[in-house]
Amino acid sequence: MISKKFSAPRGTADILPEETVLWQSLENQARQQLSLYGYQEIRTPVFEETGLFARSIGQTSDVVQKQMLTLASQNTTVDQGKELSGLTLRPEGTAAVVRAYIEHRLDTKESLTKLFYISPMFRGERPQKGRLRQFHQIGVEVLGPQTASAYLDAEVIVLAVNLLNSFGIKDFQLKINTLGTREDKCNLAGILRQQLTSEIKNCCPDCQQRYERNVFRILDCKNHSCKAVVARLKLDGSHLSPASQKYFQELCDTLKLLNVTFTVDTKIVRGLDYYTHTVFELTSPSLGSQDALGAGGRYNNLVEDLGGPAADAVGFALGVERMILARPEHQKVAMPAADVFFIVPDEANLNEAARLLEETRRAGIAGDMSYQTASLKSQMRQANKKGAAFALIFGGDEFSRGTATLKDMKEGEQQEVVLNQIVATLLAKLPSRR
Ligand code: HAM
Repeated sequence: MISKKFSAPRGTADILPEETVLWQSLENQARQQLSLYGYQEIRTPVFEETGLFARSIGQTSDVVQKQMLTLASQNTTVDQGKELSGLTLRPEGTAAVVRAYIEHRLDTKESLTKLFYISPMFRGERPQKGRLRQFHQIGVEVLGPQTASAYLDAEVIVLAVNLLNSFGIKDFQLKINTLGTREDKCNLAGILRQQLTSEIKNCCPDCQQRYERNVFRILDCKNHSCKAVVARLKLDGSHLSPASQKYFQELCDTLKLLNVTFTVDTKIVRGLDYYTHTVFELTSPSLGSQDALGAGGRYNNLVEDLGGPAADAVGFALGVERMILARPEHQKVAMPAADVFFIVPDEANLNEAARLLEETRRAGIAGDMSYQTASLKSQMRQANKKGAAFALIFGGDEFSRGTATLKDMKEGEQQEVVLNQIVATLLAKLPSRR
């Protein structure tokens, strides 16, 4: 019988050791930057109640309509208008963080809560370059009652830009826009419907439905004819109240003050329903059609809508896989190397070598061996492959004298070391391990 060969599910990817070094370097950079800005890590479950996403992201959003990966055994109802039951793998981090903020009454602990996450997200999309079913986000959410401030929005945007810079990504654009308050958004929906009245017949069937149900989604449609219609729309910020206009002006002024390059794009509305006021996107032309490196914005009503206190909030998420695609090729990250590789050509010496290897590790030295008594040459090759700084050779003659040969792999120098002095000798030669 030919046994079935399994592969990773479509739209997912194994991250192998030569890539994980890059991921770790990115994550470490991110953690460093995030702590400079006062963020603390939050880890939420990978699945949540389906209704949480439907209510926050929006029933008519593409994510909820088409991309929810809902656990089959959970007897789920996903019909529009119904309260959804069951469990869904999280498609994004914001809803889960808001749920945790409310559940743990984080508003009572600090006036402003700054959280970050580095986590996998799941969306049942049609996979293509830069678009996966399991992908990873580095995200931040800042929440607190009466904390809306153009300065805070600017700081959050600057943080996203600095993260991209710290990963060596240079070729990206920042586009910002404002949706205004919930009332302003209603005005904007009215303006859009009015301008689209005579044009909607030229749009795709999906957008013809979106016209009634969620007109903002038409602005994100990738269909050729819909894009042409959207290009003709004239949006000038007239949906905004004077207070919302002032808020946005302050944001633009602060970004200029902080030396951030940006453009205002009045057609950015974002695919998730919870946004109010500031929205922004970071795109890279090098990514092709899936060009968003990250995106975010303010969502001042979501905490209250989900049953929490009235709290303002702002955040963003950067897509890790897309950032890795956009990183310059030449920025390779080295695999971690061993300090010492034990070379044991005689079976009889394996016991003592294993004991000493454990002793070196307990002393904080990274040691390895082949676990087999292959030829000296082949074990030396393995030591080289591991990038070992030293090889420790347990040859027969030296071993009977209670010593082993320590070889500096870079300089080629060799010295005989008494077995019970091995740890001390290595520590003396490896200043970073002391
Ligand atoms: P989003 O625009 O849906 O926003 O996703 C943010 C980023 O995640 C995208 O710009 C992209 O880099 C990455 N991403 C999204 N979907 C995929 C996919 N299928 N494959 C690969 N990468 C993907 C949010 O998720 C919001 N929660 C951001 C936010 C946080 N807003 C406020 N706070």
